[in-house]
Amino acid sequence: AVVVRQRMKSSRKWARAMAIVKELDDKCGTPLGKLRQVADAMTVEMHAGLASEGGSKLKMIISYVDNLPTGDEKGLFYALDLGGTNFRVLRVKLGGREKRVVKQEFEEVSTPPELMTGTSAQLFDYIAEALAKFVATESEDLHPEPNKQRELGFTFSFPVKQTSIASGTLIRWTKGFNIEDAVGKDVVQELTKAMHRKGLDMCVTALVNDTVGTLAGGRYYHPDVIASVILGTGTNAAYVERTSAIPKWHGPLPKSGEMVINMEWGNFRSSHLPLTEYDIALDEESLNPGEQIYEKMISGMYLGEIVRRVLCKMAEEASFFGDTVPPKLKTRFVLRTPDMSAMHHDTSPDLKVVATKLKDVLGITNTSLKMRKVIVEICDIVASRAACLAAAGILGILKKLGRDTLKQGEKQKSVIALDGGLYEHYAKFRDCLEFTLKELVGDEVAETIMMEHSMDGSGIGAALLAASHSPYLQEEDE
Ligand code: GLC
Repeated sequence: AVVVRQRMKSSRKWARAMAIVKELDDKCGTPLGKLRQVADAMTVEMHAGLASEGGSKLKMIISYVDNLPTGDEKGLFYALDLGGTNFRVLRVKLGGREKRVVKQEFEEVSTPPELMTGTSAQLFDYIAEALAKFVATESEDLHPEPNKQRELGFTFSFPVKQTSIASGTLIRWTKGFNIEDAVGKDVVQELTKAMHRKGLDMCVTALVNDTVGTLAGGRYYHPDVIASVILGTGTNAAYVERTSAIPKWHGPLPKSGEMVINMEWGNFRSSHLPLTEYDIALDEESLNPGEQIYEKMISGMYLGEIVRRVLCKMAEEASFFGDTVPPKLKTRFVLRTPDMSAMHHDTSPDLKVVATKLKDVLGITNTSLKMRKVIVEICDIVASRAACLAAAGILGILKKLGRDTLKQGEKQKSVIALDGGLYEHYAKFRDCLEFTLKELVGDEVAETIMMEHSMDGSGIGAALLAASHSPYLQEEDE
């Protein structure tokens, strides 16, 4: 009788755990109809954000980039790419139309976590120092004119209110950065001051978001690139808009008639988003509650954390991992998205990788194969929802540009440049994104849309924009 009672108890627990997974699956559902509603809502917000400053949660930031690289750019340029857990410094020698990138060198430096929440001077001093060290390694053959000012394209991947191509004030931090005294300051000035403190003489000639850099980098190789999407620690998109479709732009009308818009789509929010109790709790306990809701459902900083929250509930309410809740499971952000991805992609018959990750990351041992399968399913639910929502966002952009349908007889190509660790390394996410976008637009239109991985595009792109916006360029041409 004892054995029977025990079996009944454990089967009740299993049923409770399965009910939690079922509910998650239901709430995370992204049928095509719902995704179309999300896409439509995105298009509506795009219009509103372009109409007036503060007209929408979508900031639709004017980048001041009104001409994209052509291939003719020439000279030696530096770039600094800051926006996540690592920052990169680059040196690019551009050789013009025929030769293109003659030489490219870069270094990646990890940002010490304490600097992500310290002071502005601390962060920028650290960066300027790394940059100075990198500049010191420049070989002589690269810099033909020793007295020429070195120029830098600065990729700064946070919402910035641009005031020109080479200046802009930080609106707020995202992605786990929180340096209060930098908010409202011109980040180019902050960097320039730090470079002076470190004795580095360099001029910032372009300040760009990573999406804008990726768009520029993509366009350099492919003239049909019309938009870029970052799927990494955070998520965001940029695209080329007609100036006449930007009512809030009162500046001079550029010759090109075009302007790159940094959407800051991470802050998108709509009643059509399939939010769950886990998303709501994650948001409430985050550094930026109420903000970046779309980003919190999609990007690499958060996916693992959503899965952890689901597992936590299963442990607490269905004793999924035994009578006590594994202590590590209660630690926020312990389960990182790369670990989630590794579990999700486990193809071994006994799900060895899942077992190892559970043990190493969460301190959970003795799981059955049946339990591990459930965990893989949870990863699948969370990653698929994210990928589908990102696809809906891209459809929103295509709709805004009128490229979601075919004009009569026309087969205009639309290339989207993508980058970011989530897109690059999470194959099931990438596949689901690409598949869903195809489904959304239909086979015929899908043939005109290309998704291209623009590797390290944002750094190169910043260097290219530094080149095409160089104040020294004209003197040289004369
Ligand atoms: C966050 C930032 C945005 C950036 C994106 C991708 O959403 O606010 O500026 O482009 O992350 O790095």
